[in-house]
Amino acid sequence: MKEKLENILKNGEQEITNAKTVQDLEEIKVKYLSRKGELTSIKKNLKDLSDEDKRIIGSLANNVYNSLDSLITKKNNELYKIELNKKLNDEKIDITLPSDFRVQGKVHPLTQTINEIVEIFQGLGFSVMASEDSPEVETEYINFDMLNFPPNHPAKDMQDTFYTKTAPNVILRSQTSGAQIRQMLHQAPPVRVISPGRVYRCESVSARKNNLFHQIEGLLVDKDITFADLKGILNEFVRIYFGSSRPTRFRASYFPFTEPSAEVDVQCIMCQGKGCRTCSGTGWLEVLGAGMVHANVLRNVGIDPEIYSGFAFGMGVERLTMLKYAINDIRLFFNNDVRFLNQF
Ligand code: PHE
Repeated sequence: MKEKLENILKNGEQEITNAKTVQDLEEIKVKYLSRKGELTSIKKNLKDLSDEDKRIIGSLANNVYNSLDSLITKKNNELYKIELNKKLNDEKIDITLPSDFRVQGKVHPLTQTINEIVEIFQGLGFSVMASEDSPEVETEYINFDMLNFPPNHPAKDMQDTFYTKTAPNVILRSQTSGAQIRQMLHQAPPVRVISPGRVYRCESVSARKNNLFHQIEGLLVDKDITFADLKGILNEFVRIYFGSSRPTRFRASYFPFTEPSAEVDVQCIMCQGKGCRTCSGTGWLEVLGAGMVHANVLRNVGIDPEIYSGFAFGMGVERLTMLKYAINDIRLFFNNDVRFLNQF
């Protein structure tokens, strides 16, 4: 038995020395040291020996186990290092090689503008109406009648509005102002919301006009709201959106659903007010329509104009984007040419 153990040690040592890979060592370990290995089978036979032999052979077997085990560990470390170095050498990465080209998607410039404007008005205490609360397929009743348009108003004419064939008096909305009605029917004052969305107008497409575009509607109704509040909010908006050095002016105007009404101009961003082609020589650019909510509109939704007053405004997203980035053709937003879109 002693001889057998010495052979195991000798053969084991030999095999360990000759091992070439970590995998070889693993097999050697199984062969000699595992529960089914050669040493274990000797240990199992110890029970047939005398006490004295049991002690001698037992401790010899332990010594053989320990020395093979430590040899394997040592060799394992060596082989591991060699294999690792080989791997590192073989898999060397050339970081100077050009990488794969990945096309990166971008947020559409109109969406960027909407997000920016929404953020500005949120900062001024407005909340945003959910788009499903103010649909693009709208009734004439909400889009016009409730907004105090007289029955034969020219804006209701077929030239401006897309009518549908599906149901009488169902249209593609021509403005987001219907959102004012929907919000007030649904919420008692105080109301302080904005509502971004698409609108449609039946007109010939040109560099300045598309028959689909975007507006952002704003509405604030509460007690003691005056035109000064409207001016304050809109001046603040223009100051944040165009920068504080850009003068504004409020020009008297007309909308059926506001009284008094105004159009807000900013000083031309191209010529700084001197007069150029963009501003048709006036030095000013119109950026939004606004006014105090008409008493008839408040009555239409059951709000008492003796108690409450409010203001509304509406702005064109395409126009605001074109002015900010000096874009000269509205159709660029809808062609989806990546050479244009990539610039934002
Ligand atoms: N709806 C108007 C337009 O499309 C803009 C507007 C909105 C004017 C709200 C006043 C108040 O031209």
